[in-house]
Amino acid sequence: MSEKKALITGLNEDLANELGASILYLYQQHKSPKDVKGMLKYDLKLEREAIEGYRQRAMQAEEAGEIGLKIKLEEILVEETGHAEQIERILKGM
Ligand SMILES: [Fe+2]
Repeated sequence: MSEKKALITGLNEDLANELGASILYLYQQHKSPKDVKGMLKYDLKLEREAIEGYRQRAMQAEEAGEIGLKIKLEEILVEETGHAEQIERILKGM
């Protein structure tokens, strides 16, 4: 598989995972609204998976010579890292 094809395949998988995570989060929120700590721990796990995915995708973009895409992916990576840090702070206070 070429570098660009691997990158595009990875990006598609990331988008599918993000959508799946959002649906699962909403479903769990509806199903067990009292287990806030459990939901946050699960959300933190998903954020960490997203961070790893975007980190790998940014490296693939660089290898494929897609520098603009790499920078965009790194911006998303910063946002996802911020989400994970926010959740960690909330969990520490529980
Ligand atoms: Fe996030």
